[in-house]
Amino acid sequence: MASNVEVGIQGILELYRRFADDLRSTKARLRKLYRSRCIPWRNRSLLHKLAARAVQPFAGAVGLQPRMLAQSDDETCEILYLLLRAEQPERVLEISPFHGWSTCWILSALRDNGRGKLVSHDLIDAASKNVPPELADGRWQLVLGDARKEVAASGEPVDFLLMDSDHSAEFAHWYLDHVLPRVREGAVVCVDDVFHQADPAAFDGEGPVVLDWLQRRGIAYFTCSKAKNPSALNALYGQKVSLGLAERIHTSDKNPAILFRNRK
Ligand SMILES: C[S@@+](CC[C@H](N)C(=O)[O-])C[C@H]1O[C@@H](n2cnc3c(N)ncnc32)[C@H](O)[C@@H]1O
Repeated sequence: MASNVEVGIQGILELYRRFADDLRSTKARLRKLYRSRCIPWRNRSLLHKLAARAVQPFAGAVGLQPRMLAQSDDETCEILYLLLRAEQPERVLEISPFHGWSTCWILSALRDNGRGKLVSHDLIDAASKNVPPELADGRWQLVLGDARKEVAASGEPVDFLLMDSDHSAEFAHWYLDHVLPRVREGAVVCVDDVFHQADPAAFDGEGPVVLDWLQRRGIAYFTCSKAKNPSALNALYGQKVSLGLAERIHTSDKNPAILFRNRK
């Protein structure tokens, strides 16, 4: 199933209103996960700081380091959640989950949809240690190994794609040639880490390759990148304040992702 929601600021503002209550509950759950796994124990309170000093010699063993590193920013994850709710995809592909932060957001949307499966590809086995079993619950498969080999082994069509992996130009050429053809016409694609700055080339080779590919096909994209499109980010902030959704989970707010609908 798919929707005809506009992947643009008006469409996304409308989704914030439509799924406000579910997003609020999801944020509350993921905030708890973030606090327990992503914030080093020593930073939580004065009491923790004092206790941490006392046990410093045993730092590695007592949780002084964060166990989960979260990368994708709040608004990007919220937009993924909202679009997944609207689109109701059966097959979601994530390349790559790293420690599982974006994975938890995707799985939360599939849980709330009551349908759909996620396959995530990474070189490292970290996400499986962080994704709560009740979220994974029969709807998640983590495939370890180089995505360029592993994705080729599966011919399944894809209804929703998150790309957040190797950010080189070479990797971008690979997935534009080998993964995008498997993504259904009109399906939503999110590519993270494009607009850390207004000039995508300042970050890595992937952004310019993807933007050129989109331009040659006449495909419009949306970004709420702080550097590239601050007015969109401000509009989202305004909407979040009015819906009581403004409290941040993750401190970073660069939101460098782009989103678009695939056109073949
Ligand atoms: C930017 S992180 C993903 C962050 C994650 N989406 C989040 O929200 O926290 C990039 C991940 O890509 C993985 N990666 C890089 N090259 C890869 C490849 N060829 N195949 C599979 N995974 C790869 C890395 O191991 C890393 O975990």
